[in-house]
Amino acid sequence: MTGRFITFEGGEGAGKSTQVRALVAHLRDLGLEVVQTREPGGSSGAEALRELLVTGETGRWSPLSETLMMYAARANHLEQVIRPALERGAWIVCDRFADSTRAYQGAGGGVTPDLIETIDRAVVGETQPDLVIVMDMPPAAGLRRALSRGDDENRFESKGLAFHERLREGFLRRAATHPQRYRLIDADRPIEDIRVNIWAEVSDRFPELKGS
Ligand code: TMP
Repeated sequence: MTGRFITFEGGEGAGKSTQVRALVAHLRDLGLEVVQTREPGGSSGAEALRELLVTGETGRWSPLSETLMMYAARANHLEQVIRPALERGAWIVCDRFADSTRAYQGAGGGVTPDLIETIDRAVVGETQPDLVIVMDMPPAAGLRRALSRGDDENRFESKGLAFHERLREGFLRRAATHPQRYRLIDADRPIEDIRVNIWAEVSDRFPELKGS
């Protein structure tokens, strides 16, 4: 039996983490084994790379360096956490995954899709998400929310509104061209409405959950 792989994506301050927690709790209530994880990070090597990636000066890494480091972290996360969990039949709920590289380093940072897809094939290969929840909201509002958290993980938040507009477009394009695996969620609504909407999409994608 192999498990199921669900990822959450979106810009800054879209409320992903709250919705990840709600979905994990719902699936666990059904008696499923669920691994809640995140990127960059999710394994000890990848968490060490996260620290380098999300803190410090905006210009510390170029988009190309970021891409290689994100995929180095992702390789470690896949090897140590994601693939073993899928093999034992667990559900994975991951806060960001490869679509963040496509959006932030690709659409936002200018790394070509060809290069990202070449690396993705080598690192992620067949371990593609079964479902990608894309939480969409206007970047200005999301950035305000994210910056008000006041933590030091703000390297990407500091890249300017035009960058965040581009990566939003990147997520929207990706969702539009892969309608079966990607579900677009309007994240500019009350938390409970979003939670109900996400559960409807998840149970639609995985009919075995219907009626639960
Ligand atoms: P978080 O704030 O959602 O935990 O994500 C950390 C930051 O890392 C966020 O600003 C988006 C960025 N990021 C990328 O730029 N590329 C990636 O591949 C991933 C996974 C995250």
